[in-house]
Amino acid sequence: MSHNPEIDDLLVRDGGTIRDALAVIDHNAQGICFVVDGGGKLVGVITDGDIRRALIAGRTLQQPLTDVMERNFTALPVTAPAERIQEKFTSAVRHIPLLDERGVPVDCANLSRAHRIQVMSPQLDGNELNYVTECMRTGWISSQGAFVKKFEAQFGERCAMPHALAVSNGTVAIHLALEALGVGEGDEVIVPDLTFAASINTILHARATPVIADVHPDTWTLDPAEVERLITPRTKAIMPVHLYGHPCHMDELMAIARKHKLFVVEDCAEALGALYKGKPVGSFGDAATFSFFGNKTITTGEGGMTLFRDPAVAERAIVLRDHGMDKQKRYWHQMVGYNYRMTNVQAAIGVAQLERLDEFVQAKRNLAAVYNAGLAAIAGVTLPPEEEWAFNGFWLYSCILGESFGMQRDELMEKMMRNGVETRPLFYPLHEMPPYREFVLPGQRFEVSTRLSQAGISLPSSVTITAAEQESVLNAMRSIHGTRKLHAAV
Ligand SMILES: Cc1ncc(COP(=O)(O)O)c(C=O)c1O
Repeated sequence: MSHNPEIDDLLVRDGGTIRDALAVIDHNAQGICFVVDGGGKLVGVITDGDIRRALIAGRTLQQPLTDVMERNFTALPVTAPAERIQEKFTSAVRHIPLLDERGVPVDCANLSRAHRIQVMSPQLDGNELNYVTECMRTGWISSQGAFVKKFEAQFGERCAMPHALAVSNGTVAIHLALEALGVGEGDEVIVPDLTFAASINTILHARATPVIADVHPDTWTLDPAEVERLITPRTKAIMPVHLYGHPCHMDELMAIARKHKLFVVEDCAEALGALYKGKPVGSFGDAATFSFFGNKTITTGEGGMTLFRDPAVAERAIVLRDHGMDKQKRYWHQMVGYNYRMTNVQAAIGVAQLERLDEFVQAKRNLAAVYNAGLAAIAGVTLPPEEEWAFNGFWLYSCILGESFGMQRDELMEKMMRNGVETRPLFYPLHEMPPYREFVLPGQRFEVSTRLSQAGISLPSSVTITAAEQESVLNAMRSIHGTRKLHAAV
């Protein structure tokens, strides 16, 4: 019978101490180990909970592990059919050792592995299929059609901006905003260090010069004091990015923009539904952009939206979006444009998703409340921000690990994955990555973004996540952290 090498991480010899069992559990991050005798035969099981209870009851780590071992354990022959294994899983029994004919563990059935909890997956069980079917039935599958117009109108209204243009993704949404505003060569655009790369890439696509600014520790978004310091006579625009769903310090940023006559392009890709002092993000600047990639608060598969305040700029953007073609005289090109159009099929999905936006945002906020309550009890975890003036859309629930957490972020991510929980690191700071290093100014430092980026982790945040799955995420965090604390303390 073949032997799965991963089983070795779970094994401890019966001659060892409780400390040995704890070391094995800390290493494997499964909250459990299997005790084997000299012949390799399984004789007992020990969980992290067993060790914790034993220590509370006054036992010491030097005592034999057989003192705390459960002899009455669940195990199955490695030849057992999958259904039989499945029946044995309970909320308490998540690991089932699989034994060969001599009683030696050769594999382990793991409930967490059978069911991976993803960071994000879309919810598409409203009117999406109906509306897409309508596109198919009527043949309106390209970029003309009623759904595009409807999506634009409803989206613009929702974000309190007069002109909305549906586009192919959130990246071109930003590029279109910059080009339509006339931002280009010789202009500087201030962008936060902590963001997805599309924010800075699009500045470079427009042939402008990005100026990278550190973020504010309270919101993880563009720090107005840094922005003010970085303004030069060439500064043309500021790009606040409402990161992970938290709005930026808009009053301060808008005041700076007014004072220096700068454009403001809000990158709202991650913050649909978020409010700043009761007003929707995207309603403050000259332009605002959104992404409807599959992991966003609402999705169209790929897709984006650009909002404009000024009708003349919006008109220019409509032409740029459609190859620079004259609106009256077809095939006459008055400028070098792009094909940035959204299809009617994408927009059909978007209209259906928009119908459920409030429900999705509420689900994200409920999810954040559950994580906040669970993680507040774990030492060394800083919860995501929500300033008193902010209504966080909690697109992607992210927290920061302090030193007292006792483990680096990357190790935690790896251990969470072993528990069937996908996680994500916070974005890497722009200033560290090769294409953007040349834009770091002499002596410039990015203390806040560097610290957040190194220690930040994002947890599964789908609106589809179940209460049981969220509890599994929290249990994995508690178990990994608790075992490490115990191991480090002794
Ligand atoms: C802050 C930010 N800006 C822009 C984008 C780009 O959007 P897209 O992936 O739709 O091009 C994303 C996400 O992907 C994002 O998170």
